Amino acid sequence: MKPMMDVTLAVRRQEILSCKTDVLAVGLFSGPQGLSPMLRPLDKSLSGALAKLTTLGDFKADIGTSAVIYGNDQIGAKRVLIVGIGDPKKVELDAVRRAAATAASRAVTLKARRLSLALHGGLGRRFDLVDVGRVLAEGACFGSYRYDEYVTAKDRGRSPRMKVDLIEPDPARARPLQHGLSIGAAIGHASEFARTVANRPGNAIHPAVMASVARTLARNSRHLTCTVFDENRLAAMGMGGIMAVGSGSSRKPCLIVMRYAPRKGRKHRPAVALVGKAITFDSGGISIKPSADMDQMKFDKSGAAAVLATMKAIDDLGLDLDVMSLLPAAENLPSGTSYRPGDIVTTYSGRTVEVLNTDAEGRLIMCDALTYAVQQDYPIIVDIATLTGACMVALGRHMAGLMGNDDRLLAQLQQASQQSGEKVWPMPCGEEYAEEMKSKIADLKNTGSKWGGACTAAAFLRQFVGDKKWAHLDIAGVDVLQSTAESTAQGASGFGVRLLTMFLMNLAKQTQS
Ligand code: BES
Ligand code: MN
Ligand code: ZN
Repeated sequence: MKPMMDVTLAVRRQEILSCKTDVLAVGLFSGPQGLSPMLRPLDKSLSGALAKLTTLGDFKADIGTSAVIYGNDQIGAKRVLIVGIGDPKKVELDAVRRAAATAASRAVTLKARRLSLALHGGLGRRFDLVDVGRVLAEGACFGSYRYDEYVTAKDRGRSPRMKVDLIEPDPARARPLQHGLSIGAAIGHASEFARTVANRPGNAIHPAVMASVARTLARNSRHLTCTVFDENRLAAMGMGGIMAVGSGSSRKPCLIVMRYAPRKGRKHRPAVALVGKAITFDSGGISIKPSADMDQMKFDKSGAAAVLATMKAIDDLGLDLDVMSLLPAAENLPSGTSYRPGDIVTTYSGRTVEVLNTDAEGRLIMCDALTYAVQQDYPIIVDIATLTGACMVALGRHMAGLMGNDDRLLAQLQQASQQSGEKVWPMPCGEEYAEEMKSKIADLKNTGSKWGGACTAAAFLRQFVGDKKWAHLDIAGVDVLQSTAESTAQGASGFGVRLLTMFLMNLAKQTQS
């Protein structure tokens, strides 16, 4: 898949003043000491324009804000972009990532072909420079992304490619920055990939297309393989959940299985299974959704997109672990062949589920994939899904719900969340909730009571993971970006790619040492 925006990243050993570029981005802290000493010579060349920005009070240097100053013949850059990084006492790595994203987004809008980042002055003392390089690259990829492949106008208001470089004259600092940059670029490009897969509409991506995206990914990789269980195979295996949900659409369901195994053949530790929900469109089925905002349900494959992209990232990074990914894929539509409320389906686990609402379809496809992961004996299973509107009611658009059955695994995911800036919040999924999912005429039903829908959905999934360590990310709410005044970002967020990749990077590192 061709990337929307061709972003290449590198560290350039150069001085800020002589840097020839379309946009030179420099960071500014809020408060009286906003201008770091590193920027004094630049300020001087611009006749004090930088200092004036702060003294006049026009620019508060809040995170996400920026201001353009035009260059002169004393400096190499055509434009200097002042980017806010907020309060110097509170600055975290995420502020640096967001500053890079703001710079990249603004540079794209300015139709820049070269963006030079000098945001990290003064940060090397606070943070590890490898981390700084990583978050700058992640941010630059994130902010430069635009989803406009269906816009036919020649001028889409941006340059098709942009070179991003990190300006660092000191070779001792350039080295760790470069290392971090290459990690961040792998993660950032994977996030872009996830966003494009998720952004593509339901008429462009249906289960078989998802499968071919996975196959192509495997073909162009070093250590990825891909197998697809088609409808016949699913029927023969008894994957009744996936079959039922897919039964209403002429686009047949499938289960996409990928494996990342850098050491040939034998399974080695750590071994992790990732499961991503791939409902390519969720109309609700016979329990049809209201038409307002139903278009948003093309994003119901965001979990699968995040898993696919994570596989791409770990392959690019060459991590030393075994990862299997499972993407149960179906389109949930009403028709004469649909499954109906009241149906009882037999899942792959052998357990029966009474379907009370065909719109609670995510759990029905996920449970079959979870059973398969257990059967393949993966000791750690992490699933990610746009599972419930209730999660969005609980947490808004700011964080994903995190549930699971193992405290250590949950702590590991919370740590990765901190490092990646993709926020999660712990929620329960224990016995009380599982109790609500019992049916009188089958083993389980697919809806609980009116309340706590994110928890009952997770408790349903929990029934299918046996004694494996399992965690569940409900990303309904964070899978799509709300465009705001400062940000041009909209559409799929790629949530989960940075989080899952960091989680796997940490796991691989821990077992190594
Ligand atoms: N894909 C939806 C959840 C969703 C809703 C994601 C809004 C993003 C935004 C899921 O399949 C669904 O419809 N869940 C139902 C479950 C209910 C019928 C028990 C829901 O949340 O309403
Ligand atoms: Mn649904
Ligand atoms: Zn859904």
